Amino acid sequence: MDLFRKKKIELNQTSGMKKELKTTDLIMLGIGAIIGTGIFVVTGVAANQNAGPALSLSFVLAAVVVILSGLSFAEFASRVPILGGPYAYLYVVFGEFIAWLTGWLLIGEFLLAVSSVASGWSGYVQGFLASLGVELPTALTGGYNPGKGTYLDLIAILVVVFVTYIVSLEAKKALRLNNVMVFVKFGIIALFIVVGIFFVKPANWTPFTPFGFSGVLDGAALVFFAFLGFDAVAMAAEEVKNPQKDVPRGIIGSILIATVLYIVVTLILTGIVPFTELGVSDPVAFAMRYVGHDTVGAIIAVGAILTLLTVTISMMYSLARLLFAISKDGLLPKYMTEIDEKHRTPKKATYTAGVVAVFFAGAFPLDILAELTNITALTYLILVSLGLLKLRKQFGQPKAGEFKVPFVPVLPVISILTCVVLMLRLQAITWIVFAIVMVIGLLIYFTYGYKNSVMNQQQGE
Ligand code: ALA
Repeated sequence: MDLFRKKKIELNQTSGMKKELKTTDLIMLGIGAIIGTGIFVVTGVAANQNAGPALSLSFVLAAVVVILSGLSFAEFASRVPILGGPYAYLYVVFGEFIAWLTGWLLIGEFLLAVSSVASGWSGYVQGFLASLGVELPTALTGGYNPGKGTYLDLIAILVVVFVTYIVSLEAKKALRLNNVMVFVKFGIIALFIVVGIFFVKPANWTPFTPFGFSGVLDGAALVFFAFLGFDAVAMAAEEVKNPQKDVPRGIIGSILIATVLYIVVTLILTGIVPFTELGVSDPVAFAMRYVGHDTVGAIIAVGAILTLLTVTISMMYSLARLLFAISKDGLLPKYMTEIDEKHRTPKKATYTAGVVAVFFAGAFPLDILAELTNITALTYLILVSLGLLKLRKQFGQPKAGEFKVPFVPVLPVISILTCVVLMLRLQAITWIVFAIVMVIGLLIYFTYGYKNSVMNQQQGE
């Protein structure tokens, strides 16, 4: 058994796709996928239960972890500019088994992100409907939590069904909406900052760390979620004009912009509303209603509802393409490689993703979903940092013009350690579900993937 058979991917190979994206396009793409439920929804619970007003500090810590991983990611993207992102990178340096694990983790990340954003979306829609006097039966308002009387998140389920349908038919058109939506996002965040800053009461910032430093770390482990999506930039590498330069700039640039916005928004949010009252599912709009600006709150809610929808669409789009790529390599059932004749989309891969995402979106509450997304992402980012060390060993230093992580091996090692620190802060239930997901992944590989891999067939010839 050869678990480490490597794909012979020529570094710097090209695919013939049109190369027209530049740094700014990539930053738009990154911001489109990054800014979403993390800032608009998760901040409420994170401030209320974990970090208190020190939530902005949690965001700084999470940003450090993301930037450290982003550097390794950027060097890979610059030196291995091929489709498939980390799954493909690690196929080159570590071979099939680790590539499969990475692919499986990435599938998990995107799938859980779809479910999480749908769940966050549901929070905003419910908040908005409630402000109009419309309330759903409690049982249908959230994931399974009999203690709170919730069993199923109906709106989250409906939105995943809708997004699956749209992505299976009109993905490209929906993605084009992304750029417009990025401006809507900037617009509502700017509105929040400009109006909110006048209602900040510094007294709300004391005590700054009501749950101590451990609360700040727990908050970081949760809001790490808000930065995910930067990997979407690497997924577009094949269509980039000058991937060596543009992709690293796109990745690092979109992370930095998100970081600045997140810190400002959380400082204002916790300055307006005492953290004890922030345990709501639409905190940014809630803060505006809290200070009597109901109309601004409604504008922010509608903006968030629109933009979260595009985050879900871009995640589902990437997920379907990832499933397609992995199935093409034979590691997942072939039916997912079928392309719908009329719409030229991987329809069956999209449907498969949709069915699983519906289950998670409907059954789990947002904080668990976000933590699950984080644990899968943190694990694959550890693999990417390890991969970078291997890349340097195998292919040497980057050439002139390629992105170079400074201080190797020190930075990738620190990056791995910081990911581990965040992972250790996640709840026991998150680890249990994660372990089950990993066992399923191993079972699929050993009972199906290894045998059906295209590499296996090549070796057999
Ligand atoms: N970073 C994305 C969000 O916050 C997943 O919605």
